[in-house]
Amino acid sequence: MQKTHTSTASARSARSTGKQAATKTPSRSRSAAVSDSRLEKFFVDELKDIYWAEKKLVKTLPKLQKAANSDELKQAFENHLSETEGHVERLEQAFEMLGHRPQAKKCEAMEGITEEGASVIEDTDEGTATRDVGLVLAGQKAEHYEIATYGGLIQIAKTLGHNDVAQLLQQTLEEEKNADQILTGIAEGGINYEASEEGEEDQ
Ligand SMILES: [Fe+2]
Ligand SMILES: [Fe+2]
Repeated sequence: MQKTHTSTASARSARSTGKQAATKTPSRSRSAAVSDSRLEKFFVDELKDIYWAEKKLVKTLPKLQKAANSDELKQAFENHLSETEGHVERLEQAFEMLGHRPQAKKCEAMEGITEEGASVIEDTDEGTATRDVGLVLAGQKAEHYEIATYGGLIQIAKTLGHNDVAQLLQQTLEEEKNADQILTGIAEGGINYEASEEGEEDQ
């Protein structure tokens, strides 16, 4: 059954949507509105989280490198350590661009991922390909966390109009993706197969 509403408000809004759209969006100051918005605060908080995570990785990567068996994997961890130091610096730059002091806030996720890496070292034997497989897996978990985080942060930065920060984070994101691919290459390049052939006699 059709009912005719006499509600002037709804009738008016239905009639004049086109006009309203044209006059409504004030070109008012995205940037002024943005500086203390909830999303801005959330964004800065998330930067603190990934800042903690990157600093944690600077401490963790040398441990992974030391524990690795193959030279290729050792090299990969070493290269990514220097990139990771750069990630810390980029985040410091990002804080500065946003008018904040760099501050770290504990990232429980990265704490867990690095703990897993430590238990891989504990649970596998030195000099085995099985250990390397475990280290690659641990490394990839860290990379994927970073990839997800930076991907999301870049979108938020763009939404907030911080294109300079977005560009900076994009550079880091590329390096994370590259590190992940290198680890995949190492796994596919033979250590997984080698590990599958390791028997108890190797211990
Ligand atoms: Fe990183
Ligand atoms: Fe990374």
